[in-house]
Amino acid sequence: MKVSVIICAAGKGERAGFGKNKLLAPLYGEPALRHTLKKFDIPEIDEVLITSSDYDYKEISALCAPFGFKVVKGGETRTQSVKNALDKVSGEIVLIHDGARPFVSKKLILDCIKSVKKYGSGICAVKATDTAVYGGEQIEERIDRSRLYLVQTPQGFFTEEIKKAYSLAGDKAYTDDSAIFGEFIKKPHIVEGESENIKLTYKQDFMRGIPPLPSDGLKGFGVDVHSFGEGNLVTLCGVKIPCDRGLIAHSDGDVAIHAVMDALLSAAGLDDIGHYFPDTDLKFKGADSGKMLKEVVNLLKQRGFAPARLSVSIQAEKPRLSKHIEDMKVKLSLLTGVDADRIAIAAGTCEGLGFVGEKLGICAYCIAIIKKEETNGKDD
Ligand code: CTP
Ligand code: MG
Repeated sequence: MKVSVIICAAGKGERAGFGKNKLLAPLYGEPALRHTLKKFDIPEIDEVLITSSDYDYKEISALCAPFGFKVVKGGETRTQSVKNALDKVSGEIVLIHDGARPFVSKKLILDCIKSVKKYGSGICAVKATDTAVYGGEQIEERIDRSRLYLVQTPQGFFTEEIKKAYSLAGDKAYTDDSAIFGEFIKKPHIVEGESENIKLTYKQDFMRGIPPLPSDGLKGFGVDVHSFGEGNLVTLCGVKIPCDRGLIAHSDGDVAIHAVMDALLSAAGLDDIGHYFPDTDLKFKGADSGKMLKEVVNLLKQRGFAPARLSVSIQAEKPRLSKHIEDMKVKLSLLTGVDADRIAIAAGTCEGLGFVGEKLGICAYCIAIIKKEETNGKDD
């Protein structure tokens, strides 16, 4: 049986207060709606239609294009939007889902389809966990919590039946599709929903109650170069290495640490090291880069992040670095709190090519992965 999905995205998102449709506001760095679209890009779904207001049509069409999903003009109310989309549905089964629920799981989508096939409908709903009452200023009446459910989406139906229900509903607005199905067709069947499947309604929902960062963390890239000058040692990853030259810099010239700092700042979406440690500031003259790195780790910590992995690559024609690599790892581990076995340092020459090859200076690159810091299971 062909399965279609309607994703409702034609709202204004007024309660979220972004000054635009909340579904186009960023969540983990990309429009919230894109997360929802990805969840339905699975082989079990044959067709996806997204409702959009005239105002957002261009932006939503651009988001849908890579998935091959269709965009349908929405209406004044959610009910009207769904009605418009139902006219375009070609599958025998249709799931209706709020674009504002990006945390829906594949399991829930498949459970919903199964329920339609078996019972004629599938309404995702979660059991209430708080005590529930009716009231105004005072509690008027208690509700039997054991039978109380909070209704989510997706909600699945046989297309013909839900279309019939919508046509009988006329112009009245409903908050969800199960209400219309229940009023005109039959009692809808409940599918056990998931508490993570929250609806993004207010601005806080974009920051709070959302699942942890993907386990592969956030990545950042950093690079730095310093040229050789007078001196008899270079400092790399906090280790002083004898050399017939030194590195010219405002600080101690530790190119490797500077690359690590930029990579960490970039992973956290912060400005580069020049912003935090300007070379016009006398305070940083000859500064120990290790101390600056510690400050960067602290900046991340204030935002709830911690470094998790570092991959450093140093290009230097001189001095030879191989025998110092273990010391450099230990030093970086002490400065960043990353286990030494999660730090990789590679060193190489440039085969005589370019400024490194001509022994004019040293260049270092770093890729850093950072993670959300442990909160001991507490959510504040
Ligand atoms: N929706 C829709 N057409 C409408 C109104 C809402 O397709 N005319 C969609 C929204 O885009 C959202 C879902 O229905 O994905 C649930 O609605 P809601 O959470 O109320 O979103 P908004 O109506 O956009 O938000 P608000 O009520 O705060 O303005
Ligand atoms: Mg609304």
